[in-house]
Amino acid sequence: MTSFSVNAERLVARIRDLGAIGRDTDGRLTRLAASETEKAGRDQFCAWVRNAGLEIAIDRIGNIFGIWHSNENRHEAPVLIGSHIDTVINAGIYDGCYGVLSGLEVIETLKTEGFAPSRPIAVAVFTNEEGVRYAPDMMGSLVYAGGLPVEKALAAVGTDGTMLGEELQRIGYAGSEEPGFLKPSAYVELHIEQGPVLEREGVSIGAVENLQGISWQRVTIDGVANHAGTTPMSMRRDAGHAAARVITFLHDRATASNTPTVATVGCINFEPNAVNVIPSRATFTVDLRDPDEDRLKAEEAALAGYLTELAAAGGLTITAERLARFEPVTFDKHIVELIEATAGRRGLTSKRMTSGAGHDAQMIARIAPSAMIFVPSIGGISHNPREYTPDADLIAGANILLDVVQRLATGQ
Ligand code: GLV
Ligand code: MN
Ligand code: MN
Repeated sequence: MTSFSVNAERLVARIRDLGAIGRDTDGRLTRLAASETEKAGRDQFCAWVRNAGLEIAIDRIGNIFGIWHSNENRHEAPVLIGSHIDTVINAGIYDGCYGVLSGLEVIETLKTEGFAPSRPIAVAVFTNEEGVRYAPDMMGSLVYAGGLPVEKALAAVGTDGTMLGEELQRIGYAGSEEPGFLKPSAYVELHIEQGPVLEREGVSIGAVENLQGISWQRVTIDGVANHAGTTPMSMRRDAGHAAARVITFLHDRATASNTPTVATVGCINFEPNAVNVIPSRATFTVDLRDPDEDRLKAEEAALAGYLTELAAAGGLTITAERLARFEPVTFDKHIVELIEATAGRRGLTSKRMTSGAGHDAQMIARIAPSAMIFVPSIGGISHNPREYTPDADLIAGANILLDVVQRLATGQ
């Protein structure tokens, strides 16, 4: 098989250009799903896709597909490459965008080189991967894989009170294709690791063989507002203090467990949120993850037990609502082996690994053989503007994606 290489300058320039879209006046990058800033990112992506001579298709949940097919292969199942371009608040420029833009780069390279694949190759931008504005995360790929009815997803109400379906209409990305309209023969997602392992071990490529389970809940604790100066400590029903105890419980339990379990409380609100009023209500999110489903279930049960105890002891009312729940996923063995072999052929070191972050591949694995390729994240930092991967590592990863897709598209 002839070996090609991606256009390094074009790929790096596009990552920077997309990363400049959605900056606020303080220079912070925030492109929440279906927002005005994300529309600008989508428009830029579509312009590049059109320029590359690909067909654009948009489905009802707003997933965008850039499709390269020929008259000969148009009826075959495509190889799909994908990721997302929505971001968290105050994000880095690589998470999701690197995979999407490398997917486009791979197609453009193969097209320019005159490669004739025996099946179409498509690049996908999945809607609302981050789940910051609308829950659950990985929503576009989940709907695409048939895991959530599109009507239910479109009716999701965001943290700002908006409805996803209306926002997609407003920004012009409520497409007409039925989610799932392209049934991929294989799915590959290239992503920055977002963790410290590859850099620490000096390994270039992660061949991602599985992805941990994710459990998101929103907990509401109701106590009683009262005067901060006059209410004796023994007479308080303090929702704020109870929330702090839950945070400590989760943190200490995960830290002491000696397992890969991780627990995070990333969002919290007090009511009435005043310096001299005991909080009457605390609302916060819980993000629990573990590669082992039984252990993840045990962590959820332990939290539920603790909330019951806390409610009884403190005269509080506590409710928990599920926001997202995904079981761990094992990726396709053959694609993982292909990634390793490809890295070897390019003279790059590789390592099998587990993804700690959620990804669209986790959803698409339900409908097609799937796997992921990771490249190092300096300092293991992500969901942070300091997220960084050197250009050489980005290019190396994109070339692995190129080789893997080339093989998958020829059945070699
Ligand atoms: C997505 O970025 C997640 O892992 O939460
Ligand atoms: Mn991502
Ligand atoms: Mn992310």
